[in-house]
Amino acid sequence: MRNMKRALSVFLCIVIAFSCTGVAFAQDSWNAYWQSNSTDIEKGVYVAPGQTESERTIRWYTDSKDRNYVLLSESKDMSKAQQITANVTATPQGDYSAEAHITSLKEGTTYYYTCNSDGYKSAVYSITTSTRSEFSALYVTDVHISYDEENKDSIKNNSGKFASVISQAKEKSDISLILSTGDQASLGRRDEYCGYVSSADAKNTTVAILEGNHDRKNIDYRYFNANPETNDKGIKSYIGGDYWFVKGDTLFLVCDSNNADGVYHRRFIKNAIKANPDVKWRVAMFHHDLLGSRIPHRESENKLIRLLWMPLIDEFAIDLVLMGHSHYYTMSNVVYNKKTVTPIADINEVTDAKGSIYMVSGSINRPRSLDDGEIPPVGEHIGKYVDTENVIYNVLDFSENSIVIKSYYDGESTPFNEFTISKTTQQGGHPKRTFNPINNIVRFLGGVYSIFNNIGVRSDLKKKYDIKVPFFAGISGK
Ligand SMILES: [Fe+2]
Ligand SMILES: [Fe+2]
Repeated sequence: MRNMKRALSVFLCIVIAFSCTGVAFAQDSWNAYWQSNSTDIEKGVYVAPGQTESERTIRWYTDSKDRNYVLLSESKDMSKAQQITANVTATPQGDYSAEAHITSLKEGTTYYYTCNSDGYKSAVYSITTSTRSEFSALYVTDVHISYDEENKDSIKNNSGKFASVISQAKEKSDISLILSTGDQASLGRRDEYCGYVSSADAKNTTVAILEGNHDRKNIDYRYFNANPETNDKGIKSYIGGDYWFVKGDTLFLVCDSNNADGVYHRRFIKNAIKANPDVKWRVAMFHHDLLGSRIPHRESENKLIRLLWMPLIDEFAIDLVLMGHSHYYTMSNVVYNKKTVTPIADINEVTDAKGSIYMVSGSINRPRSLDDGEIPPVGEHIGKYVDTENVIYNVLDFSENSIVIKSYYDGESTPFNEFTISKTTQQGGHPKRTFNPINNIVRFLGGVYSIFNNIGVRSDLKKKYDIKVPFFAGISGK
């Protein structure tokens, strides 16, 4: 017995030693990568979606106002490269943000690109386009790359954590898209965003980001993002508005839920659907957690946000809503008209759902800590949830007939939750809309509120960082 105990403890020591060595090795190789790729990291090279699969925008920071271009080739050696000129916008730091809009990409093809400015040429990265309807995406939220005055390695380390998550997801599925539902950067700083897209995996993947409340703490998101924003009229934040894109048979509706102008959001969604009437799946993305109800002191705010968003989700027959903000993983029942229509606690698949599923993932760099083992409450419409301090990420496999959601804990090879949403027709089981005039009033009042909210943000920026946002632009986002 004693021998067995001894053998067991030796075995455990070896396991611990090996896993520590593994962690140290990973940290060392990330440190080396961070150092040797510092220029591309500082330039914040990344690929944003275009509205269609044949388009992308490649973006980076540059010191030169002119002669900024992307070279794009189907060969890794960059032979027969096509040159695409970038447009620039002056940044608050005194340099420029360059955006090269790429069109006419073919389906199911890998392209290689470099970003070029006077005296700068990036390494070679790649973009892979999907075939007709099958593709996989990594869904993460609240990545929270955080600048810390007291810890100069904070951005590097947070970025390394995210890099590891992307690489784990890529080992599991052929990820061509990252869906990120806000709070990419804790202070909204440029160096945090550059850290967010610092890994080669990130630069080789199309990245769809949106405005979390933390992204509004500064104005760098405005210059960093290269989202294909629409021109729909309404109140917007200074840092950005809503955008949509289609990939495969899915329309992604990406919205800024810091902005309460419901008239604007409804106009945006309506026009996006009008432009894509035949796309089968609709996925909405925004920052605020509507149904988790895991943080009691946020519930008064959440009630108002639910009032604004849930009628829109119902009206436009959204299949899946991806959110964030609470840092708690939850997946709702099938919900319609603020009621559970199909509980999902005991099932792993739903076909032709008679409503929508609302999902929130955990944070990458700020996972919830469960103080004293206290379990927080959970919303009445939540079907699946976990109480964990683990980092969570999700692989979503999209095809014509289904969306398969697999949720993983960091470092684990099998998902802790797997759920499939299937549809046999475009409408699926979604009920036809009903009209409620109260919703129009709520949306209008949300717009009035958002004007005052934008004024508040504008004055905070002035007070905290001496950032002078022009008055009209600060209110309307233009
Ligand atoms: Fe957050
Ligand atoms: Fe947040």
